[in-house]
Amino acid sequence: MSVFLVTGAAGFIGLNQCEYLTRAGHKVIGVDNFSTSYIPIYNPVIKKLEKDDNFLFYRIDLTHDKLTESYVDLRYLFRHYKIDYIIHLAAIPSIQRSIDDPSMVIKNNIKSTINLLEVARTYGIKKLVYASSSSYYGGIYIFEDEPELRPPLCKSPYAASKGTGELLVNSYYHSFNLPVTILRYFNVFGEYQNPNSQYSAVIPIFINKVLKDEQPTIYGDGNQIRDFTYVGNVVHANYLATQSKISGNILDIGYGMGMSLNGLLEMINKILGKDIKPIYEESRKGDVSYSRADILPAIRDLNFTPYIDFNEGLYRTIEYYKIMKEEKHE
Ligand code: UD1
Repeated sequence: MSVFLVTGAAGFIGLNQCEYLTRAGHKVIGVDNFSTSYIPIYNPVIKKLEKDDNFLFYRIDLTHDKLTESYVDLRYLFRHYKIDYIIHLAAIPSIQRSIDDPSMVIKNNIKSTINLLEVARTYGIKKLVYASSSSYYGGIYIFEDEPELRPPLCKSPYAASKGTGELLVNSYYHSFNLPVTILRYFNVFGEYQNPNSQYSAVIPIFINKVLKDEQPTIYGDGNQIRDFTYVGNVVHANYLATQSKISGNILDIGYGMGMSLNGLLEMINKILGKDIKPIYEESRKGDVSYSRADILPAIRDLNFTPYIDFNEGLYRTIEYYKIMKEEKHE
């Protein structure tokens, strides 16, 4: 049994990660400051996780400066538990939020990463996995073996914050031999993702709208391409990265498959037996037109395969939102 620290444990990917690891019999310490979490759904999940003696949750704000209590709390965790691996998911997501409030998103995402790296280097760990984002590419797709050779366009402050995080993480690998792997996730979707925020991702928004027989909005012509990735594959990739001896690598995590927004809406309609038409509006600032992962490096370094296929992932996600809707008696 290994000990995992999961940051951003109350977030969408974090909750899925904690479930994945506890089910596999590991000890998991989850930390979160609840800054963006979807409380009505998340609290029950954390409570359920806490029934397992191997899951511990701490409310900690990683962005606090060195001398504050929070920072001491993080050190406390390292002093009291022999933490083997860190999966660093804590961040304020959303390109749109970063366009509305760039300094808040940038400060949060960078400060939390620096504080965590400092503690990791002081106490020592076997591997830190850093959650980066496909947004760093800014939409350009050049099929290269080494993703770090692709010129990042970084079209939003969110992308810049994730890219800066990558540089910081790799600098700790080179300067202090901290074992790290950077994973660039491509448009993750699945259970526990918030459908109700103005910054929600497109899949939960579309599913919820179609479930309610409401018309979703498509920004642009709907021909933009995304590599929508089911969260079950992402948490699996994170685990594989912790176990890999290779360090300092940057890997795409997705299916390597592009789908248009129009195609996505069609699939959701088909699964739900509906035919809800979208409303088309102008494209959003910072939006990219084409994004698709190159998963060959992840296959090479991690033996990664997206073992839950897209259709299965979408089907499970729709089932989840159906249950959520019924529980709210909507
Ligand atoms: C980007 C990243 C993704 C990251 C996420 C964090 C890329 C290619 N992907 O996602 O890896 O996790 O930021 O925020 O950079 N849309 C609609 N109607 C809606 C909502 C969205 O048409 O109601 C459109 C958007 O304009 C966009 C697409 O759907 O073209 C996907 O949007 P969204 O789910 O917000 O994610 P990205 O911005 O692509």
